[in-house]
Amino acid sequence: MPPRQQVVRIARHPDGAPCAGDFVLDEDGLTRPADGELLLRVVYLSIDPYLRAMLGARYLTGRPPVGAVVPGSGLGTVVESRDPRFAVGDVVVGECGWREYTTVAAAGVRRIDPEQAPLSTALGVLGMPGLTAWSGLRFIARPKPGETVLVSTAAGAVGSLAGQLARRDGARPVGIAGGPDKCRLAVDEFGYAACVDYKAADFEAQLRAACPDGIDVYFDNVGGKVLEAALGILRPHARVVLCGLIEQYNAAQRPPGPNLGPVIGARATLTGHVVYDHFARFPEFLAEVAPALRRGEIRWREDVRRGLAAAPQAFADLMQGANDGKLLVRVDGDPFGGRAAG
Ligand SMILES: NC(=O)c1ccc[n+]([C@@H]2O[C@H](COP(=O)([O-])OP(=O)(O)OC[C@H]3O[C@@H](n4cnc5c(N)ncnc54)[C@H](OP(=O)(O)O)[C@@H]3O)[C@@H](O)[C@H]2O)c1
Repeated sequence: MPPRQQVVRIARHPDGAPCAGDFVLDEDGLTRPADGELLLRVVYLSIDPYLRAMLGARYLTGRPPVGAVVPGSGLGTVVESRDPRFAVGDVVVGECGWREYTTVAAAGVRRIDPEQAPLSTALGVLGMPGLTAWSGLRFIARPKPGETVLVSTAAGAVGSLAGQLARRDGARPVGIAGGPDKCRLAVDEFGYAACVDYKAADFEAQLRAACPDGIDVYFDNVGGKVLEAALGILRPHARVVLCGLIEQYNAAQRPPGPNLGPVIGARATLTGHVVYDHFARFPEFLAEVAPALRRGEIRWREDVRRGLAAAPQAFADLMQGANDGKLLVRVDGDPFGGRAAG
């Protein structure tokens, strides 16, 4: 083990869209694990939109101070274990932070089966974003065959699985994404029946054309004008999953709220969705989605950047839509070369 490691710290809290200069590469020592802890070598870091909400003091947990190592979940291999349930070489997902090595409480990590799928999927389609899509559909939206399910960020980590699961339920998934390339991807790769570009000047007209009978479910990952447009086409007793507000994460002030009049007319239900409420359901989620993924029935896409130093720009790209699937940073070599073990 080296005596020092590279880390990325918060240089300043972003003002508007984050940029690489909001972060700084630095060095730190390694903390040896105490009883009940593990020392991990970080292999992949997950780059997630909630970090922007965190840095803007709008997240469930507090705002990390300037100078702190950037928080974030990751996947690592155990290099030293002080917990009898874990051995050197085990693969786990936990709160790693943007660093090469991390010391974590064994009680707070999730063990990964490397034979199930490529390791990186444990942070994406088979990880927190996948669980978000699955639990939002299964326990809030509950789509029925023939219903129309509208999903925003349709080509992203959460949205790409939400659409595929809705289709597997016999519903008609319609996506919303930024730009023609992502819309094409949503249809061709992720099985959306149609996908509408929210950046197009005639977005609302295109949305109505793609959903001529209105929508039964809206899985909202963006908020703002896209949410307002979706509320305007709700069918009676529609269900809206309020999952993300990425359209306003970069704003200093919360923008004026949407006009909720159509919710009354549609007798619709709006439900806030927080994936942490469903973490105990990981085994149930994996039992359904992992076999389908292995059979090739579920598709996923990852945008893997190389090296810890790439993390700041990766995050800036995520918040501009310049990611091509689940955004990950590969900090160290994947011990299985990006394939499932065995
Ligand atoms: N509630 C929960 O528990 C929970 C858990 C996980 C994620 N989420 C939320 O789910 C959403 C998607 O997260 P993800 O991890 O799957 O990320 P992602 O979709 O893979 O990547 C983020 C995408 O957001 C879109 N975006 C960025 N700025 C935008 C803007 N101003 N307006 C509209 N869209 C914008 C971009 O797609 P386009 O190029 O298509 O614009 C970008 O690619 C986020 O809002 C996130 O906070 C919520």
